[in-house]
Amino acid sequence: MARIRLRLAGPKDCSALAQMRYRFRAETESVTETKSRFGRRCVPWMRKRFRPQSYRWRCWLLDDGKKLLGHVCVELFEKVPNPVNDEPELHAYITNFYVVPEMRSQGLGERLLNKALLWCRARGTDAVILWATPGSKALYRRCGFVEPIDLFELRNGAVRQH
Ligand SMILES: CC(C)(COP(=O)(O)OP(=O)(O)OC[C@H]1O[C@@H](n2cnc3c(N)ncnc32)[C@H](O)[C@@H]1OP(=O)(O)O)[C@@H](O)C(=O)NCCC(=O)NCCS
Repeated sequence: MARIRLRLAGPKDCSALAQMRYRFRAETESVTETKSRFGRRCVPWMRKRFRPQSYRWRCWLLDDGKKLLGHVCVELFEKVPNPVNDEPELHAYITNFYVVPEMRSQGLGERLLNKALLWCRARGTDAVILWATPGSKALYRRCGFVEPIDLFELRNGAVRQH
């Protein structure tokens, strides 16, 4: 079996990453944009952000030397400077977390997530947040995430009922 590498994504990966983003979203929702049109929009967006020198964004991917098997992205966002203790002044948002169906439940998702969390810790982040799909909650709990009691969400102008 080919060795699976976990590595930082760069601009050259963005075409394959955009295709996988399309696959990810099409897996559970009906897409309204063609693949090629989406690619024309998504590839330049990713190229601008997924580069090692980017301050806010990182994307890590898994590949077997021939094709992508999964990815995870993190965006840092700032807090207002704080005069209290040494409270960290950055939060992180985990997004676009995906492993291809045929490779799931072998620990690859956890490897990706831990890589992203390691980077967050190295950057000194405070909260790391994400929106969990129902099936993924066990994995997040294993990696230390908890469901907060004090987080509010306002979406499309209406508070969702959980
Ligand atoms: C979530 C996901 C990235 C995890 O990757 P993975 O390689 O299967 O993860 P691991 O093998 O390290 O861990 C297995 C855990 O993944 C989660 N998982 C497995 N299949 C899943 C699926 N189809 N959908 C969502 N989560 C899944 C479960 O929490 C599972 O833990 P469990 O076996 O105790 O229930 C992958 O399953 C996936 O791409 N799912 C569809 C997209 C998705 O839900 N992304 C998360 C958005 S918040």
